[in-house]
Amino acid sequence: MITLGLETSCDETSAAVVSDGKTILSNVIYSQMVHSRFGGVVPELAGREHIKKIIPILDEALSEADLTLDQIDCFAATFGPGLVGALLVGLSMAKSLAYFNNKPFCAVNHLEGHIFANRLSKPDMDDRFVTLLVSGGHTMLVDVDGWGHYEILGKTLDDAAGEAFDKVAKLLDLGYPGGPAIDREARTGDPDRFKFPRALPGDRLDFSYSGLKTAVALQVQKLPPDQLLSDKSDLAASFQEAVVDSLCRKTMLALKKTGRKTVALSGGVAANSRLREKLQLICDRQSVRLVYPPSELCTDNAAMIAAVADFQVAQNGPSDLNANAIPYQKLF
Ligand code: KG4
Ligand code: ZN
Repeated sequence: MITLGLETSCDETSAAVVSDGKTILSNVIYSQMVHSRFGGVVPELAGREHIKKIIPILDEALSEADLTLDQIDCFAATFGPGLVGALLVGLSMAKSLAYFNNKPFCAVNHLEGHIFANRLSKPDMDDRFVTLLVSGGHTMLVDVDGWGHYEILGKTLDDAAGEAFDKVAKLLDLGYPGGPAIDREARTGDPDRFKFPRALPGDRLDFSYSGLKTAVALQVQKLPPDQLLSDKSDLAASFQEAVVDSLCRKTMLALKKTGRKTVALSGGVAANSRLREKLQLICDRQSVRLVYPPSELCTDNAAMIAAVADFQVAQNGPSDLNANAIPYQKLF
């Protein structure tokens, strides 16, 4: 089955064509830069940008795949979670295309999309594993007992890991989006220079990042302005190490509790180079298999949405054409 996926839940307008849920024929991603001067996503602007870009991006995805609309077997889009005005653009487009072409429509959960990015990049992977799902809006550990069967083991009590990256990048004047900027800046910094807190040190599988964010803010306030420039990379590296430490520790705890032997990284923060490096070292020591998608499939993209749709339609059939956008949709 050839699926056309659309992803418009936040600030990426993306369209992709995926064959049999596993082969990417095209995956066009437009990252909206209109938000950079505000230091974060402005919901109304996001919706307006999607409206402008959705058709050109869709056309590009079809032409890269060398296909026409009548060769598409299923039209899919993210229905939530996300910004309502942004979600409605992709959702309405996919429904209209399905309706006029008399083809199935599939409404996809964005969080499940992030998990399926692993299946897209490693089709042969074990389908029983623990995933650390870390994005701009979510941080959770999920036990996957076969594709489509999820149990949440733990989640953040306050900020998401990606949100903490974005807020600290703003504090350090590193620009937007913050995660990749901190990742780059930290490469030349000393991760042991500042001792930032690791929250919830016990056995529970939940996370907390608001205290860490405040600790960085207090440290920044203490520095004379001219010193901020010279300490920026040490601050970025020490902050990143604190986040990565807690993500790795809780992930290994989740593996111990579930007895799983495979761990997958999902979501935008899974692109973080230090998280990949550190978790790989720990997994190697404990004979656990670590998988993660290439960076362009970690951050928001439509190929992961098409991959879920292929699976979902095969398992449960198409979605109803009156499916609505659900901004606070959970994983299940
Ligand atoms: O999954 P995603 O693209 O969108 C959401 O569903 O939220 O994740 C975006 C988040 C942002 O907070 C961004 O700063 C973070 O992922 N991110 C990173 C990196 N690349 C993206 N965080 C740390 N290191 C990175 N290299
Ligand atoms: Zn996402």
